[in-house]
Amino acid sequence: MKILVTGGAGFIGSSFVRMAVRERWAERIINLDKLTYAGNLDNLRDIGQTARYNFVHADIADTEAVEGIFASEAPDAVIHFAAESHVDRSIHSPAPAIHTNLNGTFTLLEAARKYKVARFVHISTDEVYGSIDPPDEADETYPLRASSPYSASKAGSDLLALSYYTTYKLNVSVTRASNNYGPYQFPEKLIPLMISNALEDKPLPVYGDGQQVRDWLYVEDHCRAIRAVLEKGASGEIYNIGGNCSLPNLEVIRRILKLTGKPETLVTRVADRPGHDRRYALTNQKLNRIIGWEPLMSFDQGLEVTIDWYRENHEWIERVKSGEYRLFYELNYAQRG
Ligand code: NAD
Ligand code: DAU
Repeated sequence: MKILVTGGAGFIGSSFVRMAVRERWAERIINLDKLTYAGNLDNLRDIGQTARYNFVHADIADTEAVEGIFASEAPDAVIHFAAESHVDRSIHSPAPAIHTNLNGTFTLLEAARKYKVARFVHISTDEVYGSIDPPDEADETYPLRASSPYSASKAGSDLLALSYYTTYKLNVSVTRASNNYGPYQFPEKLIPLMISNALEDKPLPVYGDGQQVRDWLYVEDHCRAIRAVLEKGASGEIYNIGGNCSLPNLEVIRRILKLTGKPETLVTRVADRPGHDRRYALTNQKLNRIIGWEPLMSFDQGLEVTIDWYRENHEWIERVKSGEYRLFYELNYAQRG
């Protein structure tokens, strides 16, 4: 199978590309990525040179570039990861999320329709369900109640993708995953930011009371689930992918401090995120029942692997932090006091 991966230089996309190339189950992978601040070809340095992999530098919202790739590569399937993925950035500046998550997804769907692509997997998020009060958990029929420009743009793109099945019979499935963590995650997200600050003895900025709950999913477990949906998922269906590991943010931070041997005095309360979702909660029952997938990595083991990776890849962190990262970091945390 020839697969066009979008956003393959980002955190989850690079893990998926690495897995597909290493395990040799894809005949060819084409990675289409704009290389925004979050895209980094260093993330794929360990796959080496292989005729089974090709990188194309382009914007998914550029119709001419996208159609050129569909025409020359004739992919059998599209796995669509590319997105502006950070909630805080979408709050500071929503336009990039609308451009990529909505217009970019539309451009890809149109090209997939025109070039009669056999399979399209749209990668989405549990954030589209919004904040969920305990003890409820969202299944795939739960109402969409997105809170941030990021999650609203993802919810819109989910509906658009599903409409291409209903209207044009494009073979689309949508996945909605919970919070991922693991190696190569850009250090603007909670776990890599806290690890990287803890390793440098810097303050760990906790939004509000730190009691917001997220469900943690190890990135390779997520990628295995995506492969299963690609191969066994049904047209027009949505599949939740959760980590079965719901924890308040402060508990996650305490575990990071314990594993890095750093003091709790590094924890610093800062102003809350506007519109902050209190709790995400998913049920995986559909994916488990229909496809037989479940997460394999325990949180404590995954966190240890992740911390070891950040300790051993200090240069990678320094490089990604040297550019645009610092500007946003200063803007975001200066405003929070
Ligand atoms: P990321 O920010 O690490 O990577 C995004 C990638 O997309 C980067 O390589 C970037 O260069 C590329 N990109 C951005 N705009 C583009 C454009 N216009 N054209 C082409 N490439 C572009 O994101 P991630 O955390 O790996 O998330 C990947 C996908 O998974 C996203 O769709 C996100 O919504 C979804 N998701 C993420 C999580 C999570 O916890 N990180 C959880 C659930 C779902
Ligand atoms: O749930 C899936 C989503 O998870 C994905 O769709 C998004 O792409 C991904 O970014 C992530 O969104 P969150 O907003 O949940 O992730 P983030 O790492 O930004 O924040 C996790 C929690 O930690 C959230 O409650 C906010 C809090 N937080 C975050 C940062 C960066 C802090 O308390 N301090 C911080 O400095």
